[in-house]
Amino acid sequence: MRLRDYLAESIREAPIEHLPSHAKLIDKVALVRLREEIEGLKHEIGELILRFYNARAVYLVRGVEGVERRPRLELIAGDPIREITHREYGCIFKLDLTQLMFCLGNSFERLRVAGLTGEGEVVVDMFAGVGQFAIPVAVLGEPEKIYAIEINPLAHRYLLENVRLNDVGDRVEAILGDCREIAPRMLSGAADRVIMGYFGGTIEALRAALSALKPEGGIIHFHELARRGGEENLVKELLETAASHGFHARLLLWRKVKSYSRTRNHIVIDFFAARA
Ligand SMILES: C[S@@+](CC[C@H](N)C(=O)[O-])C[C@H]1O[C@@H](n2cnc3c(N)ncnc32)[C@H](O)[C@@H]1O
Repeated sequence: MRLRDYLAESIREAPIEHLPSHAKLIDKVALVRLREEIEGLKHEIGELILRFYNARAVYLVRGVEGVERRPRLELIAGDPIREITHREYGCIFKLDLTQLMFCLGNSFERLRVAGLTGEGEVVVDMFAGVGQFAIPVAVLGEPEKIYAIEINPLAHRYLLENVRLNDVGDRVEAILGDCREIAPRMLSGAADRVIMGYFGGTIEALRAALSALKPEGGIIHFHELARRGGEENLVKELLETAASHGFHARLLLWRKVKSYSRTRNHIVIDFFAARA
């Protein structure tokens, strides 16, 4: 049975199309978004979602804040649970779900990038979070080294913990700081591959990402939101900006990572760049 039909059996006050069609379940914690019109029913809906998924807690998602992508959550059913452990493709991710983002919808992208990483590569992960990319690349790929840069001390702490839990301390070096400053200062000319897993201004870190590439060039995975149908414009802007920083840039592919809103998708653009 679908969640919406299940809720509609008990909630008569709201039209069925206003009820949520799904919640995201991570380590038995359900995250759900509700339309404004039915916020008054949040506790009843929360209790039903708790039962439907056999979850331990249900949080209402009110949005995400700031460059650190801190989620705004409200507990609407069950017991408060902060720390969760998510397992994916043989990788373990621990994090405080009430303070940090972990997007289940990016899981194929994590697997894809891990699969692309060749033996002996040096990888720079510019927006490392708790290791969403660095951990699968280290566990499933065969890199020589991954430098994982993260600006938020709490995310960096979990990144260190996840490096330990996945036993990849020999390959992953977690660096606390701003990637726009760290990459050119500490990692200039080091990388075969740079991951830019962020959206909402990723281009501001492009110069730093390019500076991290080896002299013979390398691949960048550039994430951003794009208006549906307007993806080619973003690709053009990206390649032109790389050229303005003195790099030849060649598109390899772009793909949709996930839907973000009714009008925009989260996309990733893979391109090869080398100094012109
Ligand atoms: C939305 S999370 C994404 C994590 C992961 N890259 C992914 O795609 O799943 C973005 C992360 O980038 C970090 N961040 C934002 N600006 C940064 C910067 N200038 N340097 C390093 N990390 C940054 C945030 O703190 C956050 O943990």
